[in-house]
Amino acid sequence: MAETEEAKKPDFRKGFLVRDLADGAMALGQVDGEDVVLVRRGDEVFAVGAQCTHYHGPLSEGLVVGDTVRCPWHHACFSLRTGEALRAPALDSIACWRVEKVDDKIFVREKLTQPVPKRATRSANPRIQPDSVVIVGGGGAGLAAADMLRREGYDGALTMISADDSPPYDRPNLSKDFLAGTAPDDWIPLRPPDFYADWRINLKLGSRVESLDVKQKRVQLEDGKTYEYGALLLATGAEPVRLQIEGAVDSQIHYLRTFADSRAIVAKAAAAKRVVVVGASFIGLEVAASLRSRGIDVIVVAPEHQPLERVMGPELGLFIRKLHEAKGVVFHLDDTVLRIDGHAVTLKSGTTLSADFVVVGVGVRPSLTLAEGAGLTIDRGIVVNEYLETSVSGVYAAGDIARWPDPHSGERIRVEHWVVAERQGQVAAKNILGHRERFDAVPFFWSQHYDVAINYVGHAERWDKVEIDGSLDARNCAVSYKRRDRTLAVASISRDLQSLQTEAAMESAPLRQ
Ligand SMILES: Cc1cc2nc3c(=O)[nH]c(=O)nc-3n(C[C@H](O)[C@H](O)[C@H](O)COP(=O)(O)OP(=O)(O)OC[C@H]3O[C@@H](n4cnc5c(N)ncnc54)[C@H](O)[C@@H]3O)c2cc1C
Ligand code: FES
Repeated sequence: MAETEEAKKPDFRKGFLVRDLADGAMALGQVDGEDVVLVRRGDEVFAVGAQCTHYHGPLSEGLVVGDTVRCPWHHACFSLRTGEALRAPALDSIACWRVEKVDDKIFVREKLTQPVPKRATRSANPRIQPDSVVIVGGGGAGLAAADMLRREGYDGALTMISADDSPPYDRPNLSKDFLAGTAPDDWIPLRPPDFYADWRINLKLGSRVESLDVKQKRVQLEDGKTYEYGALLLATGAEPVRLQIEGAVDSQIHYLRTFADSRAIVAKAAAAKRVVVVGASFIGLEVAASLRSRGIDVIVVAPEHQPLERVMGPELGLFIRKLHEAKGVVFHLDDTVLRIDGHAVTLKSGTTLSADFVVVGVGVRPSLTLAEGAGLTIDRGIVVNEYLETSVSGVYAAGDIARWPDPHSGERIRVEHWVVAERQGQVAAKNILGHRERFDAVPFFWSQHYDVAINYVGHAERWDKVEIDGSLDARNCAVSYKRRDRTLAVASISRDLQSLQTEAAMESAPLRQ
């Protein structure tokens, strides 16, 4: 930030006029060189850290809802009273300062101590506290659940079992900054290495759970080892759909789900000139953008008429296509890959392309084998109730595998969104401790293509009307997906505040089943 802008920020130590802070408004200033946001809510004034602990989003440009502030970038939610990160994707709290009103001015005084994890005795219902909790899955939902269990003061044995060799990491980054080469390896883990020992989380990596016995309350790993549980959270996520392409050799085809997958693509990209991406999915297109920024020629082959048309509609689909074309991506739409011979990729249309390697991003399938084997109720995902409990008491499911009753669409839905997975992990953790908290968050996801971020709130599988407020070409708009005049979802570009306001409005008007 330029020195003049820094200088313009008021020093809250010297006081700030109450009349300059309207009810519900925020002011950005400084305290001892740290950026601080002053927030007024009725007669109360709060002073909190100005940067979101997820990706440093500017909280002063976010939204105040009740006694919380929400981040404009990916909708994390913090308590203004304690600074606690109430809702993912941020997991760490923001700082808080004591505020004093003297005459017509507000003065920010000393920094307050960070919220400490609650004590075990403060659990909603101590009688429900299980002796042990096992979490199957070390992804977004699993980590957020483990984190919340300890934050809520759960004191019992906590085991997280993950088939992945890496400790839980920031999966969305794998197709974005990390793949583009602008995020180093050490940005990717969600928690530092000593977190697990410090919080007594028994993290078993490279360990696949093979079976679940809900009667004996036991899971068994592939190596035969067993773990008994008092409560169980299934958070096994999803697996990329694999294509059988004639002539293709495994080493030529890459999928992207894990840190290792992303590292393998980075390694291949180092010597590559040209890549074919199969699938115009979010992941496929993010891979295209990241590889373009490495100077690699990218060709996208997909059966759709317009990228992302099924999820975002034709207007936004065309916009995304033009955005990628302007960066040099070449599309072969309404087409598929028939066979691969060495560097030659032959399409159904008869076209032959040359590629050093191929990345396939044609969607994922929820990992349901364990749940199916254990006899849990399945309906294109694990069926859970509003508390994220499966058909078996004491067994919860969260993230990409869970199909839950969404009070906003009035339907049972399953989504593949990072923030939803983490928030479900958090709510499941609280319910394991007896809180009986409904999962009623409005679904949210974001996707990044070059310098354009698309935020999406709500859930629309079918709609009868698309309304565009603003201009796609100007990269400033909100696209509403409506059915019978009810707004089901809104995708937005450069309208972060509006996206937060839409989310808050949807929260306050759920359509309960
Ligand atoms: C490259 C990429 C980019 C993405 N970008 C975005 C984005 O920008 N925005 C967004 O909203 N979403 C994004 N997503 C989707 C998001 O990452 C997922 O919705 C989210 O990771 C789901 O979390 P989860 O915990 O349910 O599953 P996962 O994060 O997939 O974790 C599942 C875990 O379970 C483990 N596991 C599976 N089976 C077993 C077993 N039998 N035994 C033990 N462990 C097991 C896996 O090893 C893994 O650790 C992206 C996904 C990918 C792959
Ligand atoms: S930067 Fe705040 S939620 Fe991501």
